[in-house]
Amino acid sequence: MASIRFGVWAPVHGPRAAAHDPLEPYDASWAHNRATVLEAEALGYDATLIAQHTVNPHFAERDQLEAWTSAAALAALTSRIEVIAAIKPGLFHPVVLAKMALQIEEISGGRFAINLVNAWNQAEFAKAGLPFPDHDARYAYGREWLGLVEALTRGETVTRDGEHFSLDAYTLRPTSRHRARPRIYLGGESEPARALAAELADVWFINGQPIETVASLIGDVKARPRAGEPLGFGLSAFVIARETEAEARAEHRRLIALAEQDKPAKAIQKANTDPKVVMFQTMARQSFVGTNGGTAAGLVGSYDQIAERIDAFGRAGVELFMLQFQPLRSELRRFAEEIFPRLGKIAAPAPAKLQSEAR
Ligand SMILES: Cc1cc2nc3c(=O)[nH]c(=O)nc-3n(C[C@H](O)[C@H](O)[C@H](O)COP(=O)(O)O)c2cc1C
Repeated sequence: MASIRFGVWAPVHGPRAAAHDPLEPYDASWAHNRATVLEAEALGYDATLIAQHTVNPHFAERDQLEAWTSAAALAALTSRIEVIAAIKPGLFHPVVLAKMALQIEEISGGRFAINLVNAWNQAEFAKAGLPFPDHDARYAYGREWLGLVEALTRGETVTRDGEHFSLDAYTLRPTSRHRARPRIYLGGESEPARALAAELADVWFINGQPIETVASLIGDVKARPRAGEPLGFGLSAFVIARETEAEARAEHRRLIALAEQDKPAKAIQKANTDPKVVMFQTMARQSFVGTNGGTAAGLVGSYDQIAERIDAFGRAGVELFMLQFQPLRSELRRFAEEIFPRLGKIAAPAPAKLQSEAR
């Protein structure tokens, strides 16, 4: 089993399980995101995922962190953690995005990654007058887009006349001084998402689901033709870890009850969602808190149970766990203190770069 890595979802749109929690005020500010990621790094977490939304997909009037400018700033402030920024191909030309990715790769010293997500929030595009083609046409666009970004970030001189983009001897410099190019993650569950992950991604992100489903999804994608290094697998999950299973279940019930208050917002989100997005079809069949599957991954239980389940996911092929917690900062600490040691993970040394030096 490859060594397991842990990441935390940055709080780009506040709390992940319930927006009205007396223990976790709504906060999507840069200050909160910065402090969370710096603490995660100090605790020994390996990665952070910064979701991309130009407008808050749950509460249109509430704050939303901007992913790419924040990723650049986090890259400068941290020294060890992997900074992963999501990107919806329909929002940026591939040349511009590849250039930004290479710049953040340099700022981070070789710790930057993109997470290609093919968009579900129709309103985000429609209200800006941007095209939002059908699900599979979006993936065809995303495939052409990612092919260009992959080649450009590797430093290839790209001449391609595609369906959507036409590039003439385009070369970006500098490329990464640390490796061939920034890492590519992909989050999406549909058939074209799986095909694209096998073809062009380095790591496929799976939504939180029971282990049998995750194992079968990994089997499906692993069996696909692929050139180069084997594909890695990441899993999104919301964790509720306590001394006893009963305490964890009680906290789960608390969050489920609080999440009831978000139902009107969820209805708006549902109305804005492309019904063909497989992720939401899967999630509609499950009961959970958190986003992207959340507690459906089953990481609700005693410290020992959580460690055992993570170990089982690891044996099924998951190498990176991208975690959600609520309240975020105290649960982030609890997980590092209680679960890391049970899995033989040693907390990382404190970040070498002092904040004062980084400014
Ligand atoms: C780990 C992970 C992270 C994601 N991050 C984002 C995101 O930042 N922004 C977004 O709009 N969608 C995000 N998504 C949702 C994808 O956009 C969604 O799955 C996509 O529409 C693909 O649809 P499909 O499931 O039909 O392939 C994420 C999905 C996963 C699994």
